[in-house]
Amino acid sequence: MLAADKGAPGVTTAATALAAVWPRPVLLAECDPAGGDIAYRLPSADGGVLNPGKGLLTLAATARRGLEPAQIHEHTQKIVGGLDVLAGLTHGEQAAGLTWLWGPLGRSLAAVPHADVIADCGRLGAHPQLGDLLAEAEKVVLLTRATLDHVAHLRERLSITKAHGVVVIADPRNYRSSIDDVRRIVGSTVGFVYGLAHDPKGAELLRGQWGGRLDRSLLIRTARDLAGRLVSHP
Ligand SMILES: Nc1ncnc2c1ncn2[C@@H]1O[C@H](COP(=O)(O)OP(=O)(O)O)[C@@H](O)[C@H]1O
Ligand SMILES: [Mg+2]
Repeated sequence: MLAADKGAPGVTTAATALAAVWPRPVLLAECDPAGGDIAYRLPSADGGVLNPGKGLLTLAATARRGLEPAQIHEHTQKIVGGLDVLAGLTHGEQAAGLTWLWGPLGRSLAAVPHADVIADCGRLGAHPQLGDLLAEAEKVVLLTRATLDHVAHLRERLSITKAHGVVVIADPRNYRSSIDDVRRIVGSTVGFVYGLAHDPKGAELLRGQWGGRLDRSLLIRTARDLAGRLVSHP
């Protein structure tokens, strides 16, 4: 489960990059109460467009009578690269009527058979009920930029939200030292502090047809390293 405090550190981009290189079968679930981006950002597996109306909203419509993990796949779509995605809400207002959804959704995502789930939860704070979903996650990972203001907000957030680890979206020019700086500040409150490259070119390539150039980007290379660490971290 990936999320952030304030700002837009790139939660959706990180979740997508991780899902693209995840070493095991994976489902990317957009659980950001503010709405999803993937259906608008990424092409479908056949090169067409995704149906933004099919996903969390259609799942919620059927889930009022109970939500079984096996139901989730009836609402997913295949995007570029053959990746399964549960598209998010189409706008933030929908979340107002769905406060009951996050707990049952978290329980079903945690029990999806034969796949790990990477959930993009967007920014924490505005929707306290999202805590019901976080409570079901095997790992809660908060993203941050390495700047002082981002790290200050992160530290406050960690005093409220229990997270297993932090991922720093770090400038490749001072990659190690940025991650080390953040580790010095919050390292005692979380199990790990890892990095993912700040790579505008890679983030741009991730929105098109995936292929060789994306594969060689710093974003994807660091995502591969991060995915390996997340999978093997106890
Ligand atoms: N690792 C990154 N490197 C460079 N640019 C990024 C990265 N992650 C996100 N961005 C850019 O920042 C903006 C917000 O990204 P997004 O992933 O939608 O953030 P969030 O989900 O946190 O709102 C987008 O324009 C995206 O291309
Ligand atoms: Mg997002």
